[in-house]
Amino acid sequence: MRFPRPSHSELLELLSITDSSELDALFKRAYEVKKQYIGTKVWFRGIIELSNICSKDCYYCGIRSSNTNVKRYTVSHAEVIKEARWCYEQGYGSIVLQSGERSNKAWIDQITDLIYAIKDVSDGKLGITISFGEQSKEVYKQWLDAGAHRYLLRVETSNPELYKKLHPQNHSFESRVQSLGYLKEVGYQVGTGVMMGLPGQTLADLANDVLFFYDIDVDMIGMGPFIPHKDTPFGHLVDSFDETTALQLGLKMIAVCRIFLRDINIASTTALQALKSDGRELGLLAGANIIMPNVTDTKFREGYQLYEGKPNLNENASETMQSLEDKITAMGETVAYGEWGDSAHFFKRTNQEKTL
Ligand code: 5AD
Repeated sequence: MRFPRPSHSELLELLSITDSSELDALFKRAYEVKKQYIGTKVWFRGIIELSNICSKDCYYCGIRSSNTNVKRYTVSHAEVIKEARWCYEQGYGSIVLQSGERSNKAWIDQITDLIYAIKDVSDGKLGITISFGEQSKEVYKQWLDAGAHRYLLRVETSNPELYKKLHPQNHSFESRVQSLGYLKEVGYQVGTGVMMGLPGQTLADLANDVLFFYDIDVDMIGMGPFIPHKDTPFGHLVDSFDETTALQLGLKMIAVCRIFLRDINIASTTALQALKSDGRELGLLAGANIIMPNVTDTKFREGYQLYEGKPNLNENASETMQSLEDKITAMGETVAYGEWGDSAHFFKRTNQEKTL
């Protein structure tokens, strides 16, 4: 039995809140739902940004293929394994591997090898979420067989017209949605997400995004506020960008998704932290339950600037983790070490028992 489908008007009403006491009430309500369905645990997934080489040219993204100001990099196999081992030794239950989108065979096989090697180095214990964009069903299967079990593929917006305005003609909304279908068929825990505050996006679009999440029955959501990047076609928006409004909108979407989708995993993303130093903690208080600390070697971080002001450019991974854990504990939440922190919704959707 599914939870009831919300109406567009009730979503819109909640997303329209701006009064601070009403906002507090919204976040509290979402937090209560999180407590009921998930508890007060937070799962860390160490994110490794493998490569900024990207075949896509999304108008909003700092690592779009036509941005020639970016120095392109790929982390070596050995370095990825070192970072994954570090995560394992720190007690992280899972890691996330992400990169710009590429679909040539050498790259696909390189990822497959990495997944096997990470499983190996962690005795099969590290959970692996991957985020490598649109691929064929066979490739998704190959990576699942290698040991990845969760996949993140943001749809960016569920409005096909808006999608067209944000991407070149050869990027297809329909293909992206189809990829989400493949991921589900193949057997992943499937995550998607959008950006909030995109140029031309309305609150009605965001309400439709929530309905889209409900209708495709997602297991996980990773979404964040749009933050303009100077070297993109939206670079002219950098000067007038309002961080406070963007943060508020980001938190509202988390809260609304938690209230209506209830038992899914929701990430409190780095983009929230870019807007306010404790943005990710605020995300947890608005209903999120996953944090993805950046464990990529600091020497690569300059190269993965999807938006302006991406934080932790110089901070090393141990420091990031300790200060984050202190803040989370102070909020009354517990970091769940050694657990995969799978989506409870996935097990319900597939009638399976939860394992790790
Ligand atoms: N602002 C916020 N998020 C962005 N992303 C890409 N560019 C931006 C931006 N300017 C997000 C996209 C993508 C994810 C990896 O990063 O949603 O799916």
